Amino acid sequence: MPPTAPDPSSGEQLPVRTAAVWAALDPLVGAGSALRVLDVGGGSGGFAVPLARLGHEVTVVDPSADALATLERRAQNAGVGARVRGLQGDGDQLHELPLGGTGDDGGGYDLALCHAVLEVVDDPATTLREITRALRSGGQVSVATANRAGAVLARALSGHPKEALALLEDRDPAPGRTRPARRRFGPADLLALVEDAGLTPGEWRGVAVVADLLDASSGADPAAVRRLELALAAASPYRDVATGLHVLATRP
Ligand SMILES: C[S@@+](CC[C@H](N)C(=O)[O-])C[C@H]1O[C@@H](n2cnc3c(N)ncnc32)[C@H](O)[C@@H]1O
Repeated sequence: MPPTAPDPSSGEQLPVRTAAVWAALDPLVGAGSALRVLDVGGGSGGFAVPLARLGHEVTVVDPSADALATLERRAQNAGVGARVRGLQGDGDQLHELPLGGTGDDGGGYDLALCHAVLEVVDDPATTLREITRALRSGGQVSVATANRAGAVLARALSGHPKEALALLEDRDPAPGRTRPARRRFGPADLLALVEDAGLTPGEWRGVAVVADLLDASSGADPAAVRRLELALAAASPYRDVATGLHVLATRP
């Protein structure tokens, strides 16, 4: 491991709101061996760069040329440009990309990330199947999505009861706009998608149970908020109303 590596579970340089995701990844990415990581929809490298700093080789697939340019700049600035590769493309067409690897099916990745992406892809089921195919047997995928219940409460608390009701009933909260609505998921939807892709899910967790509810001027100690997030992430009813959902799943 390079001496400059951040501790992903310390929260020191990483946002409190993703503490539960980093805590789930920690046993894998902090185990000491360099992993081949595929970050689908990894954007400008919020996960890819810290993972590369831990010594892992990260390939980011994203359709946004701007995001990939920022990723390259961030990776260079962090001194890990050689361990981060950006590929322009779609998560539901991974098989068309030069993913490389040693797998007989064009992948062989130890770990894939699919964070905040199933909300916007054309077809989440296809995307998860493509990711499964890119993993080695025994490889894992970290899936994070928006949580419908959290979105309902957020809309209601910000003074938008009609939109909250639309989200609750799985209707578009803003029909008529040109961009399609972002999808939201319930825990059962997410687990079913993961299983349908041929993956074995672990326990699901809530992401940002309180972080997004906290007033920025509250003065709360970030380390204490982080500890609280981790305590609430696996506990119902708190996880049920988190902003996001997370599950780690394994390719058999
Ligand atoms: C909300 S950002 C999430 C970025 C990153 N995964 C994270 O958690 O910080 C969504 C990302 O998905 C990318 N994206 C949009 N459509 C996609 C697709 N079809 N396949 C892969 N990525 C896509 C966007 O360009 C953007 O970078």
